[in-house]
Amino acid sequence: MARLCEGRVAIVTGAGRGIGRGYALLLAKHGAKVVVNDLGGAADGTGKDETPAQETVRLIKEMGGEAVVNGENVADFMGAKRMIDQAVDTFGTLDVLVNNAGILRDRVLANMMEEEWDAVINVHLKGTFAPSRHAAAYWRNKSKEIAGPVHARLINTSSVSGIYGNTGQTNYGAAKAGIAAFTVIAARELKRYGVTANAIAPIALTRMTVGLRELTEAEKAQRDPGNVAPPVVWLASRESDDFTGRIVESGGGLLAIAEGWHRGPVGEPNADPSKLGPTMMDLQKRARLNAGMNGKDLD
Ligand SMILES: NC(=O)c1ccc[n+]([C@@H]2O[C@H](COP(=O)([O-])OP(=O)(O)OC[C@H]3O[C@@H](n4cnc5c(N)ncnc54)[C@H](O)[C@@H]3O)[C@@H](O)[C@H]2O)c1
Repeated sequence: MARLCEGRVAIVTGAGRGIGRGYALLLAKHGAKVVVNDLGGAADGTGKDETPAQETVRLIKEMGGEAVVNGENVADFMGAKRMIDQAVDTFGTLDVLVNNAGILRDRVLANMMEEEWDAVINVHLKGTFAPSRHAAAYWRNKSKEIAGPVHARLINTSSVSGIYGNTGQTNYGAAKAGIAAFTVIAARELKRYGVTANAIAPIALTRMTVGLRELTEAEKAQRDPGNVAPPVVWLASRESDDFTGRIVESGGGLLAIAEGWHRGPVGEPNADPSKLGPTMMDLQKRARLNAGMNGKDLD
């Protein structure tokens, strides 16, 4: 087996369990040195426990790899800086940042509490912004120092719940669609430093998704969190220099690119709203339907 990430330094947030642990283990297997970040709370984001991150580090060391624990909250701006600094201080550089940490507080819109909205937006959106912001500044400086591309990678985590739209998740879906937009924009900004930015929309059986619906044993095996990781390791490697700004669906037997917004049919503007009805209805009729949760046109 070719080792795709030999000597590369990666941070994986939320790597104490689930999909993030799968990333950390496969990155380490491919030769990456890994900062294993995890706050270690419950699925709704409450609490704190470094044991899951320590266990991921133990598993990496057991296979002969190099890893360290980081227990910062990704949504803490200065904590995120300490995490980036820890990677550079411990392993000499930073090549890959995987923003994966996440929580859930599902509720229908009419019942959603302010704190449920704030908690989810904070962990996902700010928890993507804060580490990315400090990594971007580090990569910009490094690119100036070496007067060339840094071949670094930003890999975020979106979700079909956001890009296609799942009911009961306006908070989570808005954050995940926001992360998709963030990724597209970051890809455009960071290109000049030789940094790619992509996002994964994963499918896996973890504590986040367990019990959502009945799965056969074969489906459960297919949804092993480790199955999301192969495209992430490829994206983390030097092979992916020319792959950027994409949202990649991975896991559960699927590998695909989710395509973004495009302008659809165009109509004649009219300053008088009372004359707009037929134009608006005609535009709706001619426009492609939004995708359903299966990524295809909604019926
Ligand atoms: N499981 C799926 O099918 C699925 C689908 C779409 C998106 N996702 C996304 O994939 C990512 C991983 O989810 P998972 O299914 O492995 O869930 P998980 O709950 O098993 O893992 C998430 C990890 O993030 C950590 N975390 C939470 N808040 C944190 C914070 N503020 N700082 C640091 N760490 C924090 C948790 O302690 C946990 O270990 C999440 O972003 C999730 O939204 C998962």
